[in-house]
Amino acid sequence: MTPAPVLLFDQTDSTNAEARRRAEAGETGPLWIAARRQTAGRGRRGRAWESDTGNLFATLLTTTRKPPAEAAQVTFLAALAVADLLDRYAPPSLVTIKWPNDVMLAGEKVAGVLVESGVHAAGGLWLAVGIGVNLAHAPAGTERPATALAQHLSADVPAPPSVEVAARELAGCFAVWMERWETLGFQPVLDAWRARTLGLDGPATARLGHETIEGRAEGVATDGALRLRLADGGLRLISAGDVFFGEG
Ligand code: BTN
Repeated sequence: MTPAPVLLFDQTDSTNAEARRRAEAGETGPLWIAARRQTAGRGRRGRAWESDTGNLFATLLTTTRKPPAEAAQVTFLAALAVADLLDRYAPPSLVTIKWPNDVMLAGEKVAGVLVESGVHAAGGLWLAVGIGVNLAHAPAGTERPATALAQHLSADVPAPPSVEVAARELAGCFAVWMERWETLGFQPVLDAWRARTLGLDGPATARLGHETIEGRAEGVATDGALRLRLADGGLRLISAGDVFFGEG
């Protein structure tokens, strides 16, 4: 599959917002919208995403005929694509995924994914697959420590890629997973994602709005939802929310 073209802005409010505006105006993509700087970068659960120059901010605008529940699987493709990108610059053993789509480097968050969607007036579901990768610097003041690729480069890599190169390579990595997903379905994607994901079989705490649920992760269901075994023996399937793995 040919990677979608990349449109790089010097600055925008948010590449996800730009993708949404284009989708609402009838654009279908596929197109990567990237920016060197965002003035209103957004993260999951209404958080801000620090967006100073040097890091990668990119959103794939695309349109699918898949039903929304299946379309949500792109979030797993995004995490795998980022992991493949990072493997080129950092020791692959340091690159892992935290459910569902945070990418970690040496145990600290280096990239996040925010997928938004809507329905085109002419039919079809548009998706804005937003990806932020800390190439040069880690944001300060995050709830859990974050890191940047520049802090974990492989011995033979002098510097992290430029934003242009990283955006192009990310588009290429994503296209590989997109093609596997479209030709083979979700199972091989989920298997590859599982192989890189840590914490799926140990203590876990899920925060869903104001509710905090403690339990033990027991892997994921076939749609990628986290299986959380509760102290009373019950099972909760968690599809979205903040989950902390490990004790405390
Ligand atoms: C998260 O909270 O982990 C998701 C962060 C997603 C950030 C990216 S940066 C590019 C795109 N544009 C945005 O405003 N957000 C996403």
